[in-house]
Amino acid sequence: MEKLKIRANGALNGEITISGAKNAALPLLCASLLTRETLHLTNVPMLRDVKTTQKLLQGMGARVLTDNVHEFEINCSNINHTCAPYDLVKTMRASILVLGPTLAHFGEAQVSLPGGCAIGSRPVDQHLKGLEAMGADISIEHGYVKVRAQQLQGAHIVMDMVTVTGTENLLMAATLANGTTILENAAIEPEVTDLADCLVKMGANIQGIGTPTLTIQGVDKLHGCSHSVVPDRIEAGTFLCAVAMTGGKVVLKKAAPKTMQAVLEKLSEAGAIIEVGDDWIAIDMHQRPKAVDVRTLPYPAFPTDMQAQFMVMNAIATGSSKVVETIFENRFMHVPELNRMGAQISAEGNTAIIQGVEQLSGTTVMATDLRASASLVLAGLVASGETTIERIYHLDRGYENIEQKLGDVGAIIERVHDH
Ligand code: EPU
Repeated sequence: MEKLKIRANGALNGEITISGAKNAALPLLCASLLTRETLHLTNVPMLRDVKTTQKLLQGMGARVLTDNVHEFEINCSNINHTCAPYDLVKTMRASILVLGPTLAHFGEAQVSLPGGCAIGSRPVDQHLKGLEAMGADISIEHGYVKVRAQQLQGAHIVMDMVTVTGTENLLMAATLANGTTILENAAIEPEVTDLADCLVKMGANIQGIGTPTLTIQGVDKLHGCSHSVVPDRIEAGTFLCAVAMTGGKVVLKKAAPKTMQAVLEKLSEAGAIIEVGDDWIAIDMHQRPKAVDVRTLPYPAFPTDMQAQFMVMNAIATGSSKVVETIFENRFMHVPELNRMGAQISAEGNTAIIQGVEQLSGTTVMATDLRASASLVLAGLVASGETTIERIYHLDRGYENIEQKLGDVGAIIERVHDH
């Protein structure tokens, strides 16, 4: 088992290059299932979830022609298996993203039902409701959802709630459906927009990209294209919180500040001086952060994937704050671990009240989800003594070389192996 050992080392200073977004790369890789031609993706982050998706697609018969660092060429002309097995789905819920494109292109698909996960029950009813409206036969047998349709038909679908992967699945399916699909109450997260932009390059006809109403005119077939994955706004936000906590001046390169308005505003409110260009963000922090209230909501409001990082920033801030999580019902697993490090956080239901303290103290901690683990890394950057983070495979699912990137700006952080 690998661990991270962290020691506070004062302010962070320098430059960090932001990777491509995990949550864009995963649906983009799955979009390769929609065409017999080769999809060429660049700026792909080198993450465990990307490897898992590669394995999933290869298990279905996809050929990965190039997997250079940050670059994939993937061809799905020889798909001979339309099933996403339990072994992979249980390690990565985003496996559900093969359902829509596989059904649309090959007439059938089977995906092991993802079930609950550490951050909540996370059903997929909206994915299924949409596919059913498009004419798919759906059955659930032996823990698998099986969908079948000779030819999907366009449909008017109003989603009951904003769902990111639900929108992506239905969007991909609709590109090859017969006729027009209207998706209302669609997610407008930048990762959904990135997928839609790539699908258009592949020959899809999509109107309303970036809005909650997507109108998709189905086409007979899609072709290959080359596409660069949008920068990871959550990775960028995580590093900005790190600097807001340690102080210092850091420039994030290859970032997408336009996708981060809500987070940047909150960081300014906390006392950080933020400057942005088209593809960079500079943060300058010379004071203890001020506590800021946060409420998570779908994009463009404050993202749930930044909630844990703001919680830990608030934990060492001046004043008290309230953090409300409205997207997932169980996304406070970092609270008991942060309290073990001396934070004063009380959580009830979906609300946490945080009383800022001057100093956290290092100990051994672990978390059972990706962003909770990230918040513990941030805590380690300012805690007294040594912080050891266990179960870092969660971090490796979503952060590329986090110890190197933070090390490059002055953090003392080391990956160690248990013998
Ligand atoms: N929901 C339903 N029914 C559905 C679909 C969703 O009830 O059919 C509920 C969920 O249970 C949740 C809410 O709707 O309460 C929103 O979930 P959503 O479907 O938007 O989440 P997701 O698509 O499974 C993606 C990201 C998550 C991110 C959320 C919210 C990917 C691969 N994952 O998940 O990312 O937190 O959107 O923005 O895109 C992460 O990166 O750490 C992460 C968890």
